[in-house]
Amino acid sequence: MKAVILAGGTGSRLRPLTGLMNKHMLPVGKYPMIYYAIERLKEAGIEQILLITGRASAGLFIQYLGSGSDFGVSITYRIQEEAGGIAEALMLAKPYVKDGEKFVMLLGDNLFEESLGSHASVFEDQPGGAMVLLKQVHDPERYGIPVFNDSGQITSIEEKPSEPRSNYCVTGIYFYDSYVFSLIDKLTPSERGELEITDLNNVYAEAGLLTYRKMSGWWTDAGTFGSLYEAAGRMQEEDE
Ligand code: G1P
Repeated sequence: MKAVILAGGTGSRLRPLTGLMNKHMLPVGKYPMIYYAIERLKEAGIEQILLITGRASAGLFIQYLGSGSDFGVSITYRIQEEAGGIAEALMLAKPYVKDGEKFVMLLGDNLFEESLGSHASVFEDQPGGAMVLLKQVHDPERYGIPVFNDSGQITSIEEKPSEPRSNYCVTGIYFYDSYVFSLIDKLTPSERGELEITDLNNVYAEAGLLTYRKMSGWWTDAGTFGSLYEAAGRMQEEDE
């Protein structure tokens, strides 16, 4: 299975630090944040990685990660010229993923404990569609939140709802079939002018093709100062 890591965006919730430096290059414990996504993939045996980032910081990523050989992986790069949403960035992976191939997409600011290996093999065995990983959180209004039917299937996802219907959030770890690119083509921009990942996942959910698995280890999205410090603390414990 191939992987796509999204490492662009403006990092607005981490200003002023991100005025100087791409969020995914900020230190988390001993390493820059991006290291952990690479390491988690490598550990799951996923070694072909497409890294998507913005023009301003591409040089820094290339300097640090190079071809990926120091990390035991093979890295290809693509540039997102302007921040236009997660689903828009994902479209840049189209030439990288062959028809019929499945892949995992990680948001580079998602840091987590458990291995992706078992999740990836479950998705490999599934006929197609998409799969998301869920995690219980205490602040669900910050995330995409699934709505379940009586049989426990996801019927839709609500993005940052003011009244969340569950305390499970959709993490930034997504598995897709190659059909995803034709679905992105049909999306229209949201009110904030972006192609939203939740709108994309809702296309799969409406078709009954969105499955999920729950994460058991700790997980955090390090997009705010609070969660960045939490992640640094966790990683320091792991590194010791
Ligand atoms: C994005 C997604 C959201 C998801 C989150 C996970 O939010 O839109 O559905 O729960 O990532 O990290 P963002 O962090 O871009 O606000």
